[in-house]
Amino acid sequence: MRRLQNVLILPHTLINMNRDEVLETDNQDQLRSFRERFVVEDEDVCYLDGNSLGRMPKRTVEEINSLLVNEWGKKMVGGWADWIDEAEQVGNLIGEAALGASAGQTLAIDTNTINIYQLAVAAIKARPGRKKILIDRANFPSDRYAIEAIAESHGMELVYIENEDPTISPQEELTLDLLGRYLDDDVALVTLQIVQYRSGVLNDYAAIEKMVRARGALMLWDCSHAVGSVDLQFDKNEIGLAAGCTYKYGNSGPGAPGWLYVSHKLQSELDVPIRGWFATKNQFAMERIFEREDGIRGFQISTPPIIGLRAVKVGFEMIKEAGMKAINEKCLKGTDLMIELFDQWLEPLGFSLATPRERSRRCGHIIITHPDGAKIARALRELKNVYPDYREPNGIRFSFSPLPTSFTELYEGFSRLRDLVASGDYKNMKVVESKVT
Ligand SMILES: Cc1ncc(COP(=O)(O)O)c(C=O)c1O
Repeated sequence: MRRLQNVLILPHTLINMNRDEVLETDNQDQLRSFRERFVVEDEDVCYLDGNSLGRMPKRTVEEINSLLVNEWGKKMVGGWADWIDEAEQVGNLIGEAALGASAGQTLAIDTNTINIYQLAVAAIKARPGRKKILIDRANFPSDRYAIEAIAESHGMELVYIENEDPTISPQEELTLDLLGRYLDDDVALVTLQIVQYRSGVLNDYAAIEKMVRARGALMLWDCSHAVGSVDLQFDKNEIGLAAGCTYKYGNSGPGAPGWLYVSHKLQSELDVPIRGWFATKNQFAMERIFEREDGIRGFQISTPPIIGLRAVKVGFEMIKEAGMKAINEKCLKGTDLMIELFDQWLEPLGFSLATPRERSRRCGHIIITHPDGAKIARALRELKNVYPDYREPNGIRFSFSPLPTSFTELYEGFSRLRDLVASGDYKNMKVVESKVT
């Protein structure tokens, strides 16, 4: 294990002072001890990509090992007596820990795209006679593709809300004014993200939900970048439908199951398109006729992935213990610091900030752009041990994952970025085609 290198040669005292302040911020951080519960193989790495894939909690290794050895290994098929309801149990945990949702409305299951598809089809079937679906142009590709396919196969008109700036910018925000230009009585479904995956804009989800509901349409939220960073209040804001990933701020591991949420109010009104045996009233009676179970279980299709669910459980138990209020405040402090360092160090080097500055309009990640963004992002990893991710056409995205990340790690990462660009060392970097950015 290598120690954090003291490579930073500070050019003047003001920045020195700030570094001390950053260390003090870590000392005062009430969530500080959570970092010790994560595997940090190399202390020199500045990991600022926790909104793509969170770090691994140490307890995940123990939990999964114990599941394999003590449950699957010993009980074999007999284990199902204990595992059969785990998608609901872990769903309830996610609801309580991170969504402000009471029990019986969340299922931890399948992937985000599958959950978006299932809920979107269910929603349009629940609004017969209405012919339009709204989605924003800057939404995540997988959501757009899934919704396009639904519109095609159900003979609906897909209407794009034009909020995409090709250079990435805070214009991605879905304001009530913008939405109002598209919303009419022919809209069955609106599907948006709470936090925009590129620009990091936090949309006013409570106000949007209210507006959409008032027009008689259904609202479906992709919460992938909000869950575990924004202090979501689904019950209080009468949120109807939502889905999200767990492997970002939930730290549940690559490809771990996502979740879907259907409010108590909508559960009897909605019917998902894939009918599976886990949704039936009397599952092991193997009935001829599908009779749907009441409640959230009626939205489950298949056998729950128990190994992945255990990793989700570890991640969300940690979130529950830390509390979303404290987590959200730390996220905001992290992005406050990023913006401060951007102003001080990066703007003079030709970077632009594509995330809103106001606290009320952002949360856990920011994106900065630079004409050489692709080269810089690659050089950061390869030459400087700093992990951001890169989003076309020129955006470098940094997140502050509040449980495993320290303010010092963030500060160090940004100072290495400053030094990299100031020195021009990134210029010789070749932009290699990669399957993953
Ligand atoms: C906002 C958003 N939506 C959807 C997805 C796709 O999730 P999945 O691959 O689990 O379907 C991602 C993945 O990163 C995402 O960030």
